[in-house]
Amino acid sequence: MFSKVPINVSKLKKEEIDKEILRAALMAELDAINLYEQMAGMTDNKEVSSVLLDVAKEEKTHIGEFQTLLLEIDQEQVEEMEAGREEVEEELGK
Ligand SMILES: [Fe+2]
Repeated sequence: MFSKVPINVSKLKKEEIDKEILRAALMAELDAINLYEQMAGMTDNKEVSSVLLDVAKEEKTHIGEFQTLLLEIDQEQVEEMEAGREEVEEELGK
C-alpha cells in the first residue's frame, strides 16, 4: 500500500534530489489519503470516520504545497501536466 521512498539519494544528480524528495512526499500524501478514506469506510463510528475524512482532506492541502514546490523546479513536469490535460480534453471532446 505504501510507496517506496528512494533509498540512495547519493546516486542522484544534485539538481534532481529536491525533485525526488518532493515526488516522494507527494506519494506519501496520496497514500495517506487512500488509507484514511479506506479506514473511514471501515468504521461504524461516525466520529472516527469524520476525523479520518477531515485529515484526508488536510492531506490534499499538503499535496498542493508539495506540488507547488515541485512545479517551481520541474519545468518538464509543468509542460507534461498541461499536455496531459489537453489530451484528456481532446479525448473527451471538451
Ligand atoms: Fe500530510
